[in-house]
Amino acid sequence: MKISPSILDANYQYFQSEIDSISTADRIHLDVMDGQFVPNISFGPPVFKQIKFPVEIEAHLMVDNPGNFFDMFEGLGCVGITFHIENTGETKAIELLKNLKNRGLKAGICVDGDTEIEVLTPEILELSDQVLLMSIKAGFGGQQFRDVTYDRIKWVRSQGFTGEIEIDGGVNLDNAPKLAEAGADIVVIGSALLKQPIEDRAGIIEQVQSY
Ligand code: DX5
Ligand code: ZN
Repeated sequence: MKISPSILDANYQYFQSEIDSISTADRIHLDVMDGQFVPNISFGPPVFKQIKFPVEIEAHLMVDNPGNFFDMFEGLGCVGITFHIENTGETKAIELLKNLKNRGLKAGICVDGDTEIEVLTPEILELSDQVLLMSIKAGFGGQQFRDVTYDRIKWVRSQGFTGEIEIDGGVNLDNAPKLAEAGADIVVIGSALLKQPIEDRAGIIEQVQSY
């Protein structure tokens, strides 16, 4: 299984070194929060422009009006952009997914932990390259993983979705193997990686990649 570390819990005093310590990951996950859609504010392109990323990057937009941010994150070099269906609804989500595909980006739809999984209609799944399933309620790192996630992965696969399923929130070395078994392709790991000593991180990444 692949791993996309979330750098939300990185030590920003040494931001570049923190990024360099996870250079063997498959991708890096940028959690963008505007204080509106979620009660937390994180960071945006002005900060990331100062960083040299050793691997591809993806943006997880936890913001109101996510379409307003597509130019910015495409310009930053993201390979994929993922937004939440909760604040767009189906019609707008379909429009935004098409917009991302037209840009040649990986089009991602995110479903928050409290949201019923059936919001992923056949048309949404058809247009999505990636489904990002939150295994917590979006907004903060370091939360407790929800076991219902395994069934939610299986439900998405049962709909015939063959794209990428990514899991985000509370993922660690205990639940990662079970997520791989349930059908996840890639996991976001924040605190269980970036809160660990630098010398242990490559080993944790390799362990997840072995699942
Ligand atoms: C939460 C973010 C996650 C989170 C991951 O809204 O989308 O990416 O910070 O961190 P952990 O792994 O600590 O839950
Ligand atoms: Zn995220």
